[in-house]
Amino acid sequence: MTDSARVGNESAAHPGLPPVITIDGPTASGKGTVAHSVASALGWEVLDSGALYRLTALAVLQHDVDQEDVQAVADIAQHLTVQFHSTGVTLDGREVSELIRQEQIGNLASRLAPDPGLRAALLERQRAFRQFPGLVADGRDMGTIVFQDAPLKIFLVADVQARAQRRCNQLIEKGISANLADLLADMRERDARDVERVVAPLIAARDAHVVDSSALTIAQTVQVIIDLWSSRQ
Ligand code: C5P
Repeated sequence: MTDSARVGNESAAHPGLPPVITIDGPTASGKGTVAHSVASALGWEVLDSGALYRLTALAVLQHDVDQEDVQAVADIAQHLTVQFHSTGVTLDGREVSELIRQEQIGNLASRLAPDPGLRAALLERQRAFRQFPGLVADGRDMGTIVFQDAPLKIFLVADVQARAQRRCNQLIEKGISANLADLLADMRERDARDVERVVAPLIAARDAHVVDSSALTIAQTVQVIIDLWSSRQ
């Protein structure tokens, strides 16, 4: 783990705001599982920001919106009727937790995500999750854009082979057929889109702690983050 200098920590300027731990990183770096475990250890809520991009993608398909029409896509994002609950999420009142996890939806989310109008439409919705006692927010731009003043920022990385293998195992466990080579190619493509986009690219905030989870278990990764949080107190 590279422990970067803790400069630029603006949270001291906002002492009244609920604390946020941001966890950003590439596709399948384990952010979601880690974020939920950290939140449950602290008794905090979780924001799975990727789910909002996936929900937008699903709504675009369901409403047969032209994917190239950036204004129409941003409108869909602005007016999403979503409800997160303890075991998943609903869109327009219908349970869609499994549906939004499909690779096809993840891919469309990744292709829509570079659009600045869509990102702007989701910004306040994401910030509204910031409530006491605290929030663990996972995504790509949580530390750089959405919660710039977060008191603890994590940039979770893992090598692409390890991530593709994890994703492959997850799909097979769910009884979904998966091909490692296809997943690897797909993941490289998604990483490139996230890193190369002009607005909110996937990049570590300058005050983020970079944690490489390639050789760590989920429990070890969670412990690293809890230790970093405790050492701030
Ligand atoms: O994290 P997840 O894979 O569920 O996110 C789906 C897609 O949404 C990602 O491939 C990424 O392009 C986009 N995303 C984003 N910014 C976020 C979260 C997700 O651009 N904060």
